[in-house]
Amino acid sequence: MKKLFSFLLLAAMVLPVMADEGMWLPMLLNRNEADMQAAGMRITAKDIYDANHACLKDAIILFNQGCTGEYVSAEGLFLTNHHCGYSYITSHSTVEHDYLTNGFWAMTREQELPCPGLTATRLVRMEDVTDQVLEGITSETSEKDREKIIENNIKKVGENAIKNTHYKYVIKPFYYGNQYFMYINEVFTDVRLVGAPPSNIGKFGGDTDNWMWPRHTGDFSMFRVYADKDGKPAPYAETNVPYKPLKHLDISLKGVEEGDFTFVFGYPGTTKRYVTSHEVAMTVEDSDPISIDLRTIRLKHYKAAMEKSPAQRLRYASKVASIANGWKKWQGEVEGIQRLKGIEQKQKQESIFNSWAENKPAYRNVLNELEEQYLIKRPIYRNLIFFNEAVMASDFMMRAHNLYNIYCLCKLGKEEEAQAAIAKFLQSNEKYFADFDQHTIVDKGIFVETFEYMIKAGYAPYLEHADLNKIYDNSMLTKKGAAEKFFKSFKTKNADKLGKDPAFALFSVAYSYAYTAESRKQYSEASQNINRLMRIYVKGLMEMYPDTQKGTTPDVEKPYFFPDANLTLRVAYGHVQGFNPRDAVYYKPYSTLDGIMQKENPDIYDYVVTPRLRELYQTKDYGRYANAKGEMPVAFIATNHTTGGNSGSPVLNADGQLIGINFDRCWEGTMSDLLFDPNYCRNISLDIRYCLFIIEKYAGAKHLVDEMTIIQ
Ligand code: ARG
Ligand code: GLU
Repeated sequence: MKKLFSFLLLAAMVLPVMADEGMWLPMLLNRNEADMQAAGMRITAKDIYDANHACLKDAIILFNQGCTGEYVSAEGLFLTNHHCGYSYITSHSTVEHDYLTNGFWAMTREQELPCPGLTATRLVRMEDVTDQVLEGITSETSEKDREKIIENNIKKVGENAIKNTHYKYVIKPFYYGNQYFMYINEVFTDVRLVGAPPSNIGKFGGDTDNWMWPRHTGDFSMFRVYADKDGKPAPYAETNVPYKPLKHLDISLKGVEEGDFTFVFGYPGTTKRYVTSHEVAMTVEDSDPISIDLRTIRLKHYKAAMEKSPAQRLRYASKVASIANGWKKWQGEVEGIQRLKGIEQKQKQESIFNSWAENKPAYRNVLNELEEQYLIKRPIYRNLIFFNEAVMASDFMMRAHNLYNIYCLCKLGKEEEAQAAIAKFLQSNEKYFADFDQHTIVDKGIFVETFEYMIKAGYAPYLEHADLNKIYDNSMLTKKGAAEKFFKSFKTKNADKLGKDPAFALFSVAYSYAYTAESRKQYSEASQNINRLMRIYVKGLMEMYPDTQKGTTPDVEKPYFFPDANLTLRVAYGHVQGFNPRDAVYYKPYSTLDGIMQKENPDIYDYVVTPRLRELYQTKDYGRYANAKGEMPVAFIATNHTTGGNSGSPVLNADGQLIGINFDRCWEGTMSDLLFDPNYCRNISLDIRYCLFIIEKYAGAKHLVDEMTIIQ
């Protein structure tokens, strides 16, 4: 007995779900209710999720397939991040109406701008369908058959559930397929842009401040959902009317103090909470550092070009934003895992698991087998990283990829498709040369340097004696009109002629080096095996560890396990709190407009402040949006466990009122996708008061604030 006790104690030391860690399923939130209330929450789990009555979940939107939004008016108006609405703001921007730079505010409903392709999804209800999905599967079922059975069952269960409705269904695996939940959704497709601040506000701090605290980004935009006359989703039509959500969020102007309870309600994309030391090692020893190095090269070239002229800056801005986002996050992730000794921590936990599993045949070998599979997967994976981050880094090779596709279509005898691909390529080719001279310096630099890096690392043995500059210069891809000439006399049956082009030739070798038939097969088998073994391992962990653990407050319990994020609706809760990023430095939990003025620099694009904002600052014209000290709050940090996809998520107070919009995490805590550390992991939210201040005072769009329910 004593032995068991000390074993459990040891086990609890190694895999505790840390204070405030967790992305919980709304349907099962009653299990967290006591803990949440002990932590300060004044509403109930049912107020948050209730399949049968209007509740907070009805105010939450999945914005496309990667961000979150929340209704703030009875007329279908919702908020999300500026960086989530970015592409729609851009697509409506022209030289005459540059909404991206100057902002956009619909002063009437007629001015709201349709956004084709944009969807806003509401969760109607969710349901545990594990038994139905796994029906017919026994311990003898092979993995292949298992997949087929599951696929069929999912179809049957899902289609049955939405019969005679306009709903859609999604059924997803949880805990690596130990559990399945079904989501019944209502998907709205007439979504219109209502407002966006100028980039100087919505992107203030740009990539320089990205992932960092203290932060001053007014990262929000506004949209409205339209529906048909019955309130049902319908494609865009002038006759559609503003959708009346079952619930919209009340907005609190009280703000938050350090220590206050908050929760985030949204759609986190991916986490890897339960992976083994092998996966962590593969991430922080291979995938992160290789990608970081290769992106450093690309960023160097883009940034040099961007400094040359405003036109060049514009040309590469969005590309750089997306390359730099992962680049910066991974650096934080590597540091965070090192600081936590993450690999050793996982190894310790694995050895505890192994002693527990010693006389349990179902689990005894699972970690050894996982290790074997990672030994197969890891070198192939490394190759793929090089392929994605180096081979595909330049436009030169991306376009060589187009040639390669054309070649494959020809070889497969798909005449029509090949001709279509050629036409498409030639069309894009013409555009490509419009500003080629400037761009070629950038693109050639990237091509040469990324390949050189790969050669040095030993991942392009086929290239050791090649002259990269010559390859670049001699291809038809870098000579205006050359591709047009080549394809004029091109016959699909003579596709081999493409082989004469050095870019095509290089891409073909690089591709077959990264993707041999053998490695593909091995990779997919290893990945499947890992998934199967993880299903067993996680099941074992759930048997080994208790159901509940100590919650935020002594004597209160909360569940031990939460499923990894998988772009389904979750609740994360914690409290507003600063932190110590490094020796002698303490980060306060909120930022203000004073910080914007401190950062102001008219010569640095990311830190330009518009005269109008400066004027509001100087006259302290904050209206009812100032805090008790008379400051204009801008952003705050809290211990809520979030990840990509949570962008735009509402941050709510103890009463379930909106106090902020989640938009980022602190750099020092970006390892929380793998391991959560309450000392460092913080989500970053826009203070709702700054958002409303910008709408009302800066933009003069008070009619939008008037639609909202404001609690003073
Ligand atoms: N880091 C945030 C996220 O992952 C914001 C990204 C967009 N902003 C930027 N400066 N690149 O979505
Ligand atoms: N900005 C991220 C997003 O797009 C959120 C930051 C994070 O990864 O937590 O979802």
